[in-house]
Amino acid sequence: MRLSSLFILLASSVLASPFSHKHPAHKRYDNDHNGIPDWCLTNGDIVSCLLSESSYVWTTFTASTSAQAISIPASTAVSVTTSAAATSSSASASSYPTGTLPDASTWNSENGTKWHVSTVGSIYSSTVPSMGWDNGRTSVLGNKSFWIFGDVLSHTGLQNGLSTGPSFYGTPDDILRVDMGNITNVTDILLAPPAPSDPVPEEPFPFWGLSTGNVAEVSPGIGIGFVWEIWRNTSGVGPDRGLGIYRASLGPDRPFGNRTGGLVAGPDALPVGIMTIMNAEGYIYAYTDKVGSGIIVGRALVENAFEIDAYEFLALNGSWVQGIPSYADAKLNYGLLGEGDGGVVTISYGQGSILWSNYFEQYMLFTGSWGSSMLFYASQTPYGPFEGPYYIETVLGYGVNVHPFWSPDGSHKTLYVSSGWDNVIHMYKLDFDC
Ligand SMILES: *[C@@H]1O[C@H](CO)[C@@H](O)[C@H](O)[C@H]1NC(C)=O
Ligand SMILES: *[C@@H]1O[C@H](CO)[C@@H](O)[C@H](O)[C@H]1NC(C)=O
Ligand SMILES: *[C@@H]1O[C@H](CO)[C@@H](O)[C@H](O)[C@H]1NC(C)=O
Ligand SMILES: *[C@@H]1O[C@H](CO)[C@@H](O)[C@H](O)[C@H]1NC(C)=O
Ligand SMILES: *[C@@H]1O[C@H](CO)[C@@H](O)[C@H](O)[C@H]1NC(C)=O
Ligand SMILES: *[C@@H]1O[C@H](CO)[C@@H](O)[C@H](O)[C@H]1NC(C)=O
Ligand SMILES: *[C@@H]1O[C@H](CO)[C@@H](O)[C@H](O)[C@H]1NC(C)=O
Repeated sequence: MRLSSLFILLASSVLASPFSHKHPAHKRYDNDHNGIPDWCLTNGDIVSCLLSESSYVWTTFTASTSAQAISIPASTAVSVTTSAAATSSSASASSYPTGTLPDASTWNSENGTKWHVSTVGSIYSSTVPSMGWDNGRTSVLGNKSFWIFGDVLSHTGLQNGLSTGPSFYGTPDDILRVDMGNITNVTDILLAPPAPSDPVPEEPFPFWGLSTGNVAEVSPGIGIGFVWEIWRNTSGVGPDRGLGIYRASLGPDRPFGNRTGGLVAGPDALPVGIMTIMNAEGYIYAYTDKVGSGIIVGRALVENAFEIDAYEFLALNGSWVQGIPSYADAKLNYGLLGEGDGGVVTISYGQGSILWSNYFEQYMLFTGSWGSSMLFYASQTPYGPFEGPYYIETVLGYGVNVHPFWSPDGSHKTLYVSSGWDNVIHMYKLDFDC
């Protein structure tokens, strides 16, 4: 792991202010002792915490009588976070098995010994045998997993309709089965339908295109997600319209994404969070890819996640700058720590997903190179510097995503990763023994 102390210093000076100044009284807990402060909601003496951000389990306890929780003031929570970067191998007292991620060149030579990749199968619909889909991600609210897709239609025609952004529940004991309830026609099945004030598509681009990312849980059963709207024709081509925010919740047959209002940014803005988003260290982190030249990260405190003005974005000079930049400005001047400074430039073409790995005790950002490989990058912080790329498999595919809900015991010693091609989404199993 090549992590210079320069980066750690930079990270802590960058991180310190928003937390300690805005929320001096806010307490943090580290219930799973992984060195990463849990996200907690406080209601008087009652505290609910989301444990390790990728195990999706909320725990509720009485703060004044709790022996299990370590309470740490916000200002030290920040230094816990950054010192975890420097001392990760010794920081954990969690019960998960752990391993050491080798450097990227050693990784390749350890294929088949220290790590294994195998195929699992293709995901399928519980109601329509010929269902096809792309860009499938999973998210979790209230310990219930669900899929969000890009385009969904039958492999054999339009007899089951067409949707450009539906969501369906997953199946806890069968990662491949998409639980479509009693839905067989996907027309009008949209996770986050356009708001009434959004500009209505006009010829020659008469259809909506709705790009969605995943959802991050902000309180038990409630999540945030972003949608990027375009107008499109039947080839899928058309002008950008802008960015929307939705509040995700668990509907009876499928999840709902209710828009918070009209578009929050216009067609020239950075499409915030469309690659992936994550609840970590008290923030919602939102990632956007620069299509082959890096990744931009933004964030807002979890309690302000639905306020677009609360988001700040990491510039290449190391400053967090408030306000959504234009996509053009962001491509030139924004990126993860280390990018443009001799560090690894994280390459993603479209989708990806990031998790805190309980096994490696690092963040792992899974993504793909267009049409050719599944890979990940690793970092001690959500914003870099990242190491990698760590190549997993050479596959014809895109929309590479990780599905930690199905990792046995939440340990992340085994991870499931998917990649799609030609409206089929293939699932792979990744086992570590590092
Ligand atoms: C979460 O859901 C899984 C699968 O349904 C179940 O095995 C597990 O016990 C649940 N965890 C909690 C804390 O409810
Ligand atoms: C699917 O449902 C939509 C909306 O109800 C309807 O207009 C369409 O005809 C249906 N498609 C098919 C192929 O039955
Ligand atoms: C599908 O199921 C929901 C509730 O589970 C019910 O309200 C709805 O009527 C059902 N639709 C059909 C077409 O059976
Ligand atoms: C969709 O729009 C693009 C860009 O204007 C155009 O090149 C393409 O031919 C259009 N497709 C259809 C089916 O009209
Ligand atoms: C949220 O969206 C669902 C599905 O579109 C809808 O049935 C429900 O009424 C919406 N809730 C609110 C509060 O707008
Ligand atoms: C860092 O870069 C951003 C984005 O270009 C800019 O707005 C900001 O003023 C710069 N800050 C410093 C200290 O140079
Ligand atoms: C690792 O080995 C598997 C075969 O077991 C192969 O399919 C895969 O492409 C290899 N990955 C890399 C990065 O070499």
